Amino acid sequence: MEKRSAWGSKIGFILASAGSAIGLGAMWKFPYVMADNGGAAFLVLFMIFTLFIGLPLLLAEFVIGRHGKTYSTDVFGKITGNRYYNLIGHLGNIGVFFLLSFYSVIGGWILLYMIRTIYVIFTGTHTKNYENLFGQLISNPVYAIFGALLFILLTAFIVSKGIQDGIEKASKVMMPLLFIAFLIIIIRSLTLPNAIEGVVYFLKPDFTSLNTEGVLFALGQSFFSLSVGFGGMLTYASYLDKKTDIVQSGFSVVGLNILVTLLAGLAIFPATASLGIDNAQGPGLLFIVLPYVFDQLPMGSIFYLIFLSLFFFATITSSISLIEINVSNAIKNDERKRKKAVYVISALLFILCIPSALSSGLLSDVKFGAGTFFDNMDYLVSNIMLPIGALCFALFTDYRLNKAIAKEELMDEKYKGLFTVWVFLLRFIIPIVIIAVFISLLMK
Ligand code: PHE
Repeated sequence: MEKRSAWGSKIGFILASAGSAIGLGAMWKFPYVMADNGGAAFLVLFMIFTLFIGLPLLLAEFVIGRHGKTYSTDVFGKITGNRYYNLIGHLGNIGVFFLLSFYSVIGGWILLYMIRTIYVIFTGTHTKNYENLFGQLISNPVYAIFGALLFILLTAFIVSKGIQDGIEKASKVMMPLLFIAFLIIIIRSLTLPNAIEGVVYFLKPDFTSLNTEGVLFALGQSFFSLSVGFGGMLTYASYLDKKTDIVQSGFSVVGLNILVTLLAGLAIFPATASLGIDNAQGPGLLFIVLPYVFDQLPMGSIFYLIFLSLFFFATITSSISLIEINVSNAIKNDERKRKKAVYVISALLFILCIPSALSSGLLSDVKFGAGTFFDNMDYLVSNIMLPIGALCFALFTDYRLNKAIAKEELMDEKYKGLFTVWVFLLRFIIPIVIIAVFISLLMK
């Protein structure tokens, strides 16, 4: 007999969804993508996209998931009776697998930094050149592959256990701690000399510095950091009971995600301004800047280790939700198959992550399209597949989902007017913006 999982509590669902959203997108990717794409103007655009495009799509995933109560490559056919619509689920299922292949590499970097920081605490060997350190760690093929492998194994371990208990419980402790850790870093960052320049850089938009590609990046970033477009939130909502208020949950997830994005910016940019570090460091920004900030604190290495642990936790709650999409599609509502599915998927994932892991070292000269293999995976997923997935979700929800069902799911009685705005955004704004951004890129 089939046996599906279910969340233990409403707060468990919110925390797990927020855990899925809050991750490398807000904390690692956002600061450097923003620095590469026009600074604060990018932030403004990202916020607009998150509220008016990401949030309605998040609600759409919640509605479809809870109503459908099945895995993402089945739900669209189940709802409409036409299994071709399941292609939307298949796109997401492939997309997350690609996404995980480079996500695990960065997860691995965090683990390597944790191991190194423990070593520093015990031996007192210290470096002052974090640019070098970062370069050395990620370009070493053994380290890079080992880090990614460890990250995949840890993710697999948690997902194989079934995620509710461990994740629900751990999230309740770790998520609040993450905020406290951020506050400590921000206070230190803001009190460095010249920090204010960084705040100005972060918060004062200059729209002339934003180009079409930057708009696409902001759009992709809003999907990436809210986990929408691939059916991850749909999968989580499929384990949800009928009582939970999904509108409130959606707003909470978006609010927390925006908050973490702002916290990450406030932790990093004042420090780069003060220490004279170039913001356009690319993927290394966070790993290079924060160690300098922690060096300015008493017992800096210990605080850095705590921060890395929390950062790691935020990352693994996202990778869990990513792999859960593949797993739920493999086990097709039969929990007995979970363990085996997790192991097979993780093994395949490990193979695919190797070229990404080597992209900063052995394969750093192999460049095509958007750059290295790693860069191409990221570009393909974030800027092409996620927006297409999101477009499909918007169109499907508007044209194929029974409005009476959606109204009931969104508690139309309680949130008067919201439903109309939601449909308007899904029907007009979201498809038009996504298509317009794509067309303007093609014309370039
Ligand atoms: N939102 C996650 C992050 O910001 C990534 C993610 C994307 C997770 C899509 C699930 C689905 O790190």
